[in-house]
Amino acid sequence: MPERYGSWHTPRTRFRRWALDGTFERMLRAARARAAVTRKSGGRAGSEPHTFASMVDAAFGHPRLAAIYDPLDPDRSDLDAYLAMAKEFGARSVLDIGCGTGVFALLLAERGMTATGIDPARASVDVARGKPGAERVRWLDGDAGDLPPMQIDLVTMTGNVVQAIADPQAWRTTLRGAYEALRPGGRLVFETRDPAQRVWEEWAEWTRETTYRMTDIPGVGHVETWVELTDVSLPLVSFRGTHVFAADGDVLTSESTLRFRERPEIERDLHEHGFAVENVRDAPDRPGREFVFVARRGTAEPQSRGAAEPRSRREPSRWPGPAVLGHSASLSFGSTPVRRGPLMGRRLSAWLIREVATYRAAK
Ligand SMILES: C[S@@+](CC[C@H](N)C(=O)[O-])C[C@H]1O[C@@H](n2cnc3c(N)ncnc32)[C@H](O)[C@@H]1O
Repeated sequence: MPERYGSWHTPRTRFRRWALDGTFERMLRAARARAAVTRKSGGRAGSEPHTFASMVDAAFGHPRLAAIYDPLDPDRSDLDAYLAMAKEFGARSVLDIGCGTGVFALLLAERGMTATGIDPARASVDVARGKPGAERVRWLDGDAGDLPPMQIDLVTMTGNVVQAIADPQAWRTTLRGAYEALRPGGRLVFETRDPAQRVWEEWAEWTRETTYRMTDIPGVGHVETWVELTDVSLPLVSFRGTHVFAADGDVLTSESTLRFRERPEIERDLHEHGFAVENVRDAPDRPGREFVFVARRGTAEPQSRGAAEPRSRREPSRWPGPAVLGHSASLSFGSTPVRRGPLMGRRLSAWLIREVATYRAAK
């Protein structure tokens, strides 16, 4: 840690300052991204491993993969239902959380609505920023915890964004951010796969052979892709996408984990964050497979502590002891001793991520 964060005899204060200004988080994101992405150079001698700073899946956060997101999945008829709902609710201003490459926000702006798109995958938002008409949309980098003050009519999360927000704390941050961005009476709309359909059993068929595609993308060349299911530990389901760029032999992989939430769980979370569930619809393009939640921001205070309450009142998670900053042989979390080695690494990084999120939220 650089000296400017204070003296070593106050390691906790120093760590807090370090965490607060985002340095630690950026380093952690970069390290996680490096772990998530492998790059094989196709035999080119001396090429460096590719790194990028993002906490999101490489499919969204890697510039080269973000650039081919739309050409690989050009059919966006799933967005028709969202456009219809924006019209049905008479929305004049819409915030699209997890906007990705901005397809939906651009459609809204084309129809005269005031559109804002936010996504933590900077590479995806950069793709959006480069599209025709992008100047009509307000683009933001980050998650719903990074939103400026707003009074929005409608918040959307399209393309199963909700399932990509697998971390419970990130999910609470999203609901809190959506609530704070909406005007009283404004609506939150999103879809999520119905776990009862057990779609992961269909995905068990996913192998290189069954999902292999070759796509010719203008300006990029041929790209081979395939997807493999890597883990089912319900409610989490993980898979790996592989992309091979014929132009230079690059192989980029992206690891993804989706959370499958039951309908009562989502209803409870919405309620705790100050929303009333207006109705749960079917997705017209995927009948019987998705829940489409339409929730309305109430005027009453949300119930959940640490959810929609003022950020400054939220408490940080427990500090595991100064050993984290030194070279001590053992470390304990409460009464739980933590072994050295990979386990300690995982627990430490989980704790550090929580600390950073808490201090950033309390800023
Ligand atoms: C499947 S893509 C959908 C993108 C876009 N909504 C669409 O319909 O094309 C999922 C998106 O969720 C974003 N995402 C992941 N975690 C997020 C979070 N905590 N908050 C907001 N967006 C997130 C990813 O960066 C990615 O762009």
